[in-house]
Amino acid sequence: MKIQCRNLSKFFGAGAQRLTALDNIGLQVQHNEFVTLVGASGCGKSTLLRMLAGLERADQGALLIDGRHVTDPGIARALVFQHYSLYPWLTVLNNIKFCRRLDVHRRHSTSASVEAASGRADALVRLMGLAACIDAYPNQLSGGMQQRVAIARALMGRPEILLMDEPFGALDAQTREVMHDLILHVHRLEQSTIVFVTHDVEEAIYLGHRVVLMAPRPGRIDSIYEVPLPRERTRDMKHAPQFLALKRELLDRIRDTSGIETDLDLLDQLSRNGASAPQGD
Ligand SMILES: Nc1ncnc2c1ncn2[C@@H]1O[C@H](COP(=O)(O)OP(=O)(O)O)[C@@H](O)[C@H]1O
Ligand SMILES: [Mg+2]
Repeated sequence: MKIQCRNLSKFFGAGAQRLTALDNIGLQVQHNEFVTLVGASGCGKSTLLRMLAGLERADQGALLIDGRHVTDPGIARALVFQHYSLYPWLTVLNNIKFCRRLDVHRRHSTSASVEAASGRADALVRLMGLAACIDAYPNQLSGGMQQRVAIARALMGRPEILLMDEPFGALDAQTREVMHDLILHVHRLEQSTIVFVTHDVEEAIYLGHRVVLMAPRPGRIDSIYEVPLPRERTRDMKHAPQFLALKRELLDRIRDTSGIETDLDLLDQLSRNGASAPQGD
């Protein structure tokens, strides 16, 4: 088992103000699995992801990766956020190489390893369709292109686990569709394990082998659904009866668990976190 969360709990604040951000989370993710976490805002999705990244400690329970307790961040886990986290003063290519450069300095490595890193960067540039803009700076790129660079940079260290927190939440619908197929392609090629947070139910189903539905107050796992589609996804599956049935079920369940009354309230609640203006590609 790649990831094991055993009765993880996380609290913020103390006394009467104490908030249970995560309550007794039990979740296992297999090697090379693609798991999506979906739920209304405030149900602890980001907290759980940050915990998997080693950026946040559990107050109770245990988190194991490859059977070992996680204590801090590590190069085997990479995180991609919604908000582009590129260095504005570096070109696309240097953004992608940046972390590897730090690593190279630390380990006093040889010219061979520097060359290997360059080869890896070139391969990622091709994979992510960035060849035409390697010398551009982030502010010259659309949101979709910036997010491709962020993903390439995350992949640079060959992470075994890719953690993504609403990475496409600020992109327009068409760009997001392109990014979905790209990330599925990356997942096939790199054989990584992906945990992907989203507030978009359709995105959760299209990408995930399993969808983990979280609920708020306290933040918890409500239910876990196997996605009844072949692992090789194609866009026409979004119209398949089993896709639409699961979508309806997830939306109903989110509504029931978060005390939301109407579809409009539900949409509002789901999109509160990803509320930045769409950016074109
Ligand atoms: N650093 C923090 N300090 C206090 N409360 C926090 C902190 N981080 C998150 N929370 C609270 O924990 C709950 C879960 O937050 P979060 O994991 O961001 O949810 P989601 O990503 O599902 O919207 C929310 O009520 C949020 O306000
Ligand atoms: Mg969040």
